[in-house]
Formats: sequence, structure tokens, C-alpha cells
Amino acid sequence: MQKNILVTGGAGFIGSHVVRRLIQNYPDYNIINFDALTYAGNLENVKDIEHAPNYTFIKGDICDANAVQQALETHQINTIVHLAAESHVDRSITDPLAFVRTNVMGTATLLHAAKQFWNGNFNDKLFYHVSTDEVYGSLGETGFFYEDTAYDPRSPYSASKAGSDHMVMAFYHTYHMPIVISNCSNNYGPNHFPEKLIPLSINNIINKKQLPIYGKGENVRDWLYVIDHAAAIDLILHKGKIGETYNIGGHNEWTNIDLIKLLCKQMDEKLGNAAGTSEQLITFVTDRAGHDLRYAIDATKLKDELGWIPSVTFEEGLSKTIDWYLNNSEWLQKVTSGDYIKYYEAYYKGSSKNL
Ligand code: NAD
Ligand code: TYD
Repeated sequence: MQKNILVTGGAGFIGSHVVRRLIQNYPDYNIINFDALTYAGNLENVKDIEHAPNYTFIKGDICDANAVQQALETHQINTIVHLAAESHVDRSITDPLAFVRTNVMGTATLLHAAKQFWNGNFNDKLFYHVSTDEVYGSLGETGFFYEDTAYDPRSPYSASKAGSDHMVMAFYHTYHMPIVISNCSNNYGPNHFPEKLIPLSINNIINKKQLPIYGKGENVRDWLYVIDHAAAIDLILHKGKIGETYNIGGHNEWTNIDLIKLLCKQMDEKLGNAAGTSEQLITFVTDRAGHDLRYAIDATKLKDELGWIPSVTFEEGLSKTIDWYLNNSEWLQKVTSGDYIKYYEAYYKGSSKNL
């Protein structure tokens, strides 16, 4: 079947890898990238495929019902892969309503527009919602998140993503809209905006700036290489069961402090620094409010049902990621000028972090 796929948030970190993968693997599909180009959206992320014959970019806001409706109609969209979101926990603490607007209202607007456009004919239609493991809340030192773990979001970001997941499920149960949801752990890799831990630290090491670690650095995250996430999304898009949720994770838990020490070691080797140079930049700062202790995904369902496993070890993925940033200094310089400086100064040098 000819697929006309609207990918929302395709100029962002994960979305750009999803768009590239779909463009390259399925030349007969039409891929429409619908993105508002917020501070996190960057057309440089998809520059290499912008002239592909099966690619179209639309600058649009998912909260704008008319713009969404027009995109659906113009391109006869039968599949939506929804990634557009406000995605940074720290920003959600500063400005929660922006997260409610985009993540809850935006998702509801998109669902409603799709329902109207598809008008009850759900044959060969799919609304694929990309979500996060953070909706499950915070784990103690043991245990994992399963697909049936009760939602227990604790930050404005995770609460807004949980709200969006519930809306998607509501459209499935109430209107029988064909949906699928995946909840993934922390991603890392090329094109990651340097407000998140790994790219922020890479940028700071390059610039010999302090590495802000919240609290004691004991919080644990499960890290997945973004290209492996894109592969999982591709698989679920084609083989996932309607109405189901799939957890995606890296089987790869690290405390923040151990992760940053590994990053420092790899960067010292690549930059030709003496061993231990970058570790001296580590600076413990005021903890994040409501900081979730640990996330860990059990991705057995995805492995058993669809055969997905991550393709790279963390050491390999991190090394490739550092190489990408070192080879794309222009990209990094562009995204860390202007508003980024204001954000960084206000957030880290202000009283909330005391860097
Ligand atoms: P990102 O912040 O890098 O990119 C978000 C993209 O959405 C940007 O291109 C931005 O311009 C666009 N966008 C924002 N608001 C919009 C709006 N109102 N209308 C249209 N476009 C808008 O985010 P990311 O890290 O690539 O995350 C993508 C999705 O994956 C999100 O839904 C996020 O919740 C989810 N997710 C992220 C991670 C992670 O570790 N980054 C992990 C699991 C799930
Ligand atoms: P982040 O990359 O923001 O992802 P998330 O909050 O969605 O997990 O943060 C990853 C971890 O790193 C989290 O425990 C918070 C911590 N962190 C720091 O210690 N310092 C920082 O400057 C940032 C951005 C995050």
C-alpha cells in the first residue's frame, strides 16, 4: 500500500533520524515532515535528505488545527508518526504550560484532525505516538518498567507526555482509531540538542567549561543510541499490533557520574589530552527539583514479538556520538549561539543551579 506519512517533529533530534530512515528505506513512501521549528527544531538535521524526491517539509504547529488539517488533506496522509513535543524536563520545571500546550493540546489536536480527515474509514490508517519511559515515574534501586506498569509521572514533562498517551488510548477505545504507542528510554547520538546531559557535556568539554552534575550524580538512566530507536520505530510502524504499547530500552543503565567519567575518558583520548583532564571539569550543582532517581526498561516484548535488540554497545555508541560532534563543530556552534547562551546563563548560573 502507498504510504503517505506525516512525521511530526521531524526536524528535532529523534525525528530527524526517523525521517532519514524512512526516506532511505522506503523510496515509494511519501514522507511529510511537519515541524514548528522551535528552538529544538533545526533543518540542518535533515539537510542531507532535503532534496529526496519522496520528502516534503511543512513548517507548522501541531496546535494549529487548520494547518494540520491542510497537511493531512494536501498529502492524503494515511499514517502519522508523532514525535513533535517539548522534550526537556528542566524547561518543563520553568515553564510547565508550554508542555501542556504542545504535548497535551497538540497531540489532542492532531488526533482530532486525523479522526475528522479519516472520517471513520480506518482501513490502512495508523496513528503512531512516540512517547517516553518517564510516564512510568521513578524506580528504586531494583525493578523495571513493563508495558503494564501503572503511569506515575512526576515532572511537568512526563505528566504532559502521560496526558498525551492517555489521549491516544482514548481515541483508540472511543473511536477505534488504529493507534500504537512506544515508550522509550533516554536517547543519545548525533543531532542531540546540547541542553541534555550528554551533548551538553560534550560541548562543555570541547570548550573546557565546567560539567554540571545534579545532586551527587547517583541518578540512573537507561541509554539507547538514537539510530537504534529509529530502527525500533520503523519495526513497530510496520509490524506493531494495533492498540498496543511497546517499551524500547537499551539494557544499559548508568549513574550520571559514571557516564560522565566514561565520556571524559573517551574525549581525553580523542582530543589528545592527558588522562584525567576533563574529569577535573566535573562540578556538582543543586539537584533538579523532583529529580527521578532511576529509569529502567524491560524491552522483552519488543524482542520476543518483533525481534528488536539494540545494535551497538554504549561504549561504541558514545564514541560515534563524540566523533559526530567533533566533526560537526559548525552545527554545534550554530545551536549554541544566541538564545542558547541566554538559556545556559539563566539556568546554570542562576540561583536554581549555582554553577
Ligand atoms: P526534540 O526536542 O529534539 O525535538 C522536538 C521537535 O518537535 C523539534 O523539531 C521541534 O521544533 C518540534 N516541535 C515542538 N513543538 C512543536 C509544535 N507545537 N508543532 C510542531 N512541531 C513542534 O525532541 P526529541 O528528543 O527528538 O524527542 C522526540 C519525541 O520523542 C518526543 O515526543 C519525546 O517526548 C520522545 N522521546 C524522547 C526521548 C529522548 O531521550 N530524547 C526519549 C523517549 C521519547
Ligand atoms: P537529561 O539529559 O535532561 O534527560 P532526562 O531528564 O529526560 O533523563 O538528563 C539526564 C540525567 O542527567 C538526569 O538524571 C539529569 C542529569 N543532568 C545533570 O546532572 N546535569 C545536567 O546539566 C543535565 C542537563 C542533566
